[in-house]
Formats: sequence, C-alpha cells, structure tokens
Amino acid sequence: MNAPILEVLGLGIAFGGLRAVDDVTFVAGRHQVTTVIGPNGAGKSTLFNLISGAMRPRSGRVVFDGVPCTGAPPHRMRALGLGRSFQITSLYPDLTVFENLRLATEILEPAGRWFLPVRRSRLALERADALLRRFELTERAGSLAGALSHGEQRRMEVAMALAADPKLLLLDEPTQGMSHGDTQETAELIGRLGREVSVLLIEHDIGLVMQISDHVVVMHQGRKLAEGPPDAVRADPAVQAAYFGHA
Ligand SMILES: Nc1ncnc2c1ncn2[C@@H]1O[C@H](COP(=O)(O)OP(=O)(O)O)[C@@H](O)[C@H]1O
Ligand SMILES: [Mg+2]
Repeated sequence: MNAPILEVLGLGIAFGGLRAVDDVTFVAGRHQVTTVIGPNGAGKSTLFNLISGAMRPRSGRVVFDGVPCTGAPPHRMRALGLGRSFQITSLYPDLTVFENLRLATEILEPAGRWFLPVRRSRLALERADALLRRFELTERAGSLAGALSHGEQRRMEVAMALAADPKLLLLDEPTQGMSHGDTQETAELIGRLGREVSVLLIEHDIGLVMQISDHVVVMHQGRKLAEGPPDAVRADPAVQAAYFGHA
C-alpha cells in the first residue's frame, strides 16, 4: 500500500473554553476520497484550517506526503502540494472566468522564470483551457466570474483549486447551495478527481458521501466519533444517534 498522503495525529484547538477540534486522529489515503461529515459546528472547517495552515493547532501533529508540517503557514502548505477551496466563494468577481483560472494556474510557473513571459503564458493558458473544458465552463470563459450561477461558481472554485496541480485537494462543502442536479454532477466530478489527486472533502449531502467516499471520518462536538468505509459508518449506532438524529 502507498504511504498516506495525509496523517493527522491528536490535532486540537480551542477558542476560549470551546474545544472546536479535540484530539482528532485520522489518515487520508493517496488517490482516495476521504470525507469528513458531522453536524453544523462539529469542527470540520476548523479541522481544515488546522491542516491548511490557516490556523495553528494547540496540540497534535500534521504530516503531509511524509513531511512533518504542523503549524506551517498556508504558502508552505501550498508549495508542498496542498490545494483548497473555501466554503465562502473566493473568486475575483470582476475578472472573467478565464482570467480567474489563468491567475490560479500561474502559481505553477517556476519562480525566477519571469524573463520568459511568452513560454510562461503559454503553459498557463493551456492549463486554463484544459480546466475550462473539463469543468464545462468553456462557454462561460468570457463572462465575469461574479455573473456565474451559484452552481457554476462552485464548479469554478474546484477548477481554481486544481489549477495549481495539488497532490491533495481540500474541499469544504463544494455542493453547498446547489440544486439536486448540480450536486449530482459535482459528486461525479469529485469521484473522478479522486482517481488522480487525493481528495479530502467536507460534505453534508449524505447520499453523495456514500456514493463517492472511500473513507469517512465522523466528527461530533470537536471529536472524532467514528471512521471507516461509508457503509460501516452509516450502520454505526453512535453515528446514527449523533448525526442522523435517531438510534
Ligand atoms: N475563529 C473562531 N473563533 C471562535 N470560535 C470559532 C472560530 N471558528 C469556529 N469556531 C467555533 O468552533 C466550532 C466549530 O466550528 P466549525 O469548524 O466551523 O464547524 P463545522 O465546519 O463543522 O460546521 C463552532 O462552535 C464555531 O462557532
Ligand atoms: Mg464548516
């Protein structure tokens, strides 16, 4: 078996007296979709903030692709190959779809090569084009990102996160606010992504979770309540009680 892409060991942070993430341990497999579920306020987004470097943990360790990186800042995590999209829309609304993607792909260009603008643009352009096709946004390339439908914006955020060619993609509720049809499309998209990059997902649509996850981690009140294959997790009585609201 391949070494895991991400190891999280005893991770914790508190806000005042609230233990938002409390001694959480799990492993995300390479080229797998690992999904974190749990009720609102369970600590899922905070867990992502601790992994991505947006917040420093008070306790515990993070190892990414074999590299210890607990508390490393976001730019270092990006350089190591961590990509993320945010629960809050993070596009430049006054730039076109193409311009947004083009900016995101430029991260790929080697530093110190700024004297090769033509070549640099060509690589960034090709990658931006490929992402447009793949995410079915080619027809919207010239539209302002702010004018996209909600579903298109969420799709574009995934494209933006992929633009820098990450090893692990963190997606925080990518289907939030989507119609049922858009949710299904996005689910299929993420399922396919899981074969080439590793994905760590937060998702509330339980049907979708069951459909695309290789491994599920359940959080409740900051703690890990259960983890395992989707079917086993759904059948777990503790999960039934805490998450689905019945025993
Ligand atoms: N920056 C912060 N300051 C204070 N409390 C926070 C902060 N971020 C999150 N929290 C609290 O931590 C808990 C977990 O929040 P969050 O990680 O956003 O949960 P989830 O993503 O599972 O809905 C909540 O009670 C939330 O109010
Ligand atoms: Mg959240």
